[in-house]
Amino acid sequence: MSFEFSAQKLVYGGDALGHYQGRAVLVPRALPGERLEVEIVRTAKGVMHGRPLRILTAAPARVDAPCPYFGRCGGCHYQHFSPENQAAAKAEILRETLRRIGKIQWEPDIPVHAGPAWNYRNQAQIKVAVQPDGRIALGFFEAESHRLSAIDACLILSPRLNAILAALRGAEWSAKLTGCREIELFADDRDEKVMMAIRGSLNGKEAEALAADCLAKLPGVASVAIEAGGGSRVFGEQALKYQVGDFEYQVSAGSFFQASKFLLPEFVKSVTEGEHGALALDLFAGVGLLTLPLARHFDEIVSVEAHPPAAADLAANAKAHAFQNVRAVAETAFDFLRRFARSSPDLVVVDPPRAGVGSDTLKFIAALQPRKIHYASCHPATLARDLGLLIAWGYQLKFVELFDFFPQTFHIECIAKLAPKQT
Ligand SMILES: C[S@@+](CC[C@H](N)C(=O)[O-])C[C@H]1O[C@@H](n2cnc3c(N)ncnc32)[C@H](O)[C@@H]1O
Repeated sequence: MSFEFSAQKLVYGGDALGHYQGRAVLVPRALPGERLEVEIVRTAKGVMHGRPLRILTAAPARVDAPCPYFGRCGGCHYQHFSPENQAAAKAEILRETLRRIGKIQWEPDIPVHAGPAWNYRNQAQIKVAVQPDGRIALGFFEAESHRLSAIDACLILSPRLNAILAALRGAEWSAKLTGCREIELFADDRDEKVMMAIRGSLNGKEAEALAADCLAKLPGVASVAIEAGGGSRVFGEQALKYQVGDFEYQVSAGSFFQASKFLLPEFVKSVTEGEHGALALDLFAGVGLLTLPLARHFDEIVSVEAHPPAAADLAANAKAHAFQNVRAVAETAFDFLRRFARSSPDLVVVDPPRAGVGSDTLKFIAALQPRKIHYASCHPATLARDLGLLIAWGYQLKFVELFDFFPQTFHIECIAKLAPKQT
């Protein structure tokens, strides 16, 4: 059954929200103000999910999606929406999430940092599937599924990553990649050198042969990690070097690094610039992207990272830049804070994964009474939850800004800055 749907607003996740017979309906690839003919494909938790069949009235911000896979491949959600309007819409989604989940009425402007809308990703997780004819297909999963959408090229990946994808599509790679299920690529800041991680079921000999082929034949590939049978072996260079601003970071296989290239210097600047004092904490520090710039302006900085490869890179990066005031701690923020007794750090930076910091860890942070908290977030709902707690515990939200790290997708990266409430 199809019906006429009026899209009211965009919600986090990429869909437009509207109503039908008093019930909420979510529809992908629709824009606020548009009327579309839609059909319902499923109902979950009382919400109907529709599929657009025909646009009846298009919004002025609608553009033609340039990618032939848009709508099938699950990677992009907003190619039908002009990039400048995408960023503004994300700021409104963030504002609404702060209000709905954090009960925070944030009226001031939310500045938006936007960069090039295409070819911005320095990383890709390419899925590999064996087709019925025995040849392999490379691509990304369709939305909310594990069905592979095979692709020739991806418009949001850097040129280097597309060149590797194109090479891997050559017939000679089909037999070599049969045992693989995922290939992860990470290109450096110059888009020259690439670190590859290959996951699948390969024996030792197959792994060695495949790694040797990748290093010899794929343009720019300098390091290959093969993750098979529960173990991991790195061939070629052990780590990639990535320059952001004045610092070069070592990033080993498995360590987190930001996946969007153009806005990174601005992002680092926003979290760190102008900050100084005796003590700063960088929690969820990764390889030290924010630690190194902070280390120049604080007497002491304690950086905490739970994932062992990233924690090792963090320590190595502090050492390579001769920062003796950095203490790199390899444990969870919670375990570290349980024992950390010093009060009133000048700055606490948190940059957690999508799950957010969470109340248990936040309680310890608030108990330290930092003079400032800078919270970098990749998930508005957990950010709103955590900010709501910090506000209840005596902090005030001073500033919120958004970095449109991932144009064409619903993802939102933002920074919130807090200070104790004035009494
Ligand atoms: C979003 S990344 C941010 C890293 C870094 N700030 C950056 O911008 O490159 C989050 C980091 O937190 C780490 N992590 C995840 N859970 C953690 C925890 N409970 N305690 C400390 N670090 C954690 C992850 O391994 C990852 O490196």
